[in-house]
Amino acid sequence: MDTKRRRHYLDALGLESWQSRGAGKAAQAAPLAASASMAAPAAAAPLAPAEAAHPAPAAAAAHAVPKDWDGLKAAVAGCLHCKLCKTRTNTVFGVGHPAAPLMVIGEGPGADEDAQGEPFVGRAGKLLDEMLRAIGRSRRAQEPAQSVFIANVVKCRPPGNRDPEPDEVQACRPYLDQQIRLVRPHLIVALGRVAAQRLLATDAPLSKLRGPLYEYGPEHTPVLVTYHPAYLLRSPGEKAKSWTDLKRVHQLLRAGT
Ligand code: URA
Ligand code: SF4
Repeated sequence: MDTKRRRHYLDALGLESWQSRGAGKAAQAAPLAASASMAAPAAAAPLAPAEAAHPAPAAAAAHAVPKDWDGLKAAVAGCLHCKLCKTRTNTVFGVGHPAAPLMVIGEGPGADEDAQGEPFVGRAGKLLDEMLRAIGRSRRAQEPAQSVFIANVVKCRPPGNRDPEPDEVQACRPYLDQQIRLVRPHLIVALGRVAAQRLLATDAPLSKLRGPLYEYGPEHTPVLVTYHPAYLLRSPGEKAKSWTDLKRVHQLLRAGT
């Protein structure tokens, strides 16, 4: 990976020398661990496969969603399937290349996102953009190889930035699942505890979730969990580990994951 990019990312994080924090070793080990997990993703995943963890359709009949991208977008824009529709200003469908190899999934829109109708446009979003830039990707890239698709587990803002509730996540899940089916990413990165817990249907803490590769849905899409950029803004101590994760994302994508 190009040193200029790394420097840029670390500058953006306010981390002057990541190696002095002892992140070097972890960064070297991570890609190896990643390929080992890839050889046998099911065995490496400490959680039940995502299908098993997924709420069964019988538990609550999932509403049908359009199978095409434009139809799906329109359905989200007019959605009234959970109580978040009452307090939102705009729905936030997602942004990026519709065939991106990398899909980044956050928790839900905040105030800025609700106002603009686009995910990750506030302070955390600026940091996310820097993180993506460090691995040669951007939400506006036209070339799939440099692209990303960014979405959230819920498409409408939970009032006061509270965590999305289980019924809201469940009501919104068919949209996310259809986005994943259409984008067909090679890798999903879940940002932060809430996105990871909701996506993987677990209540394990982030410290446990970060590290292994999980898989999601019928396509068994590999999922990596890392820190939410808003958390990184508050917790400078974790920034070096986030860089380790980003390098791993880069490696996994390069390896054709
Ligand atoms: N945090 C998220 O999880 N998603 C956004 O879109 C913005 C902030
Ligand atoms: Fe519909 Fe999802 Fe918004 Fe709820 S959060 S109203 S399910 S789009």
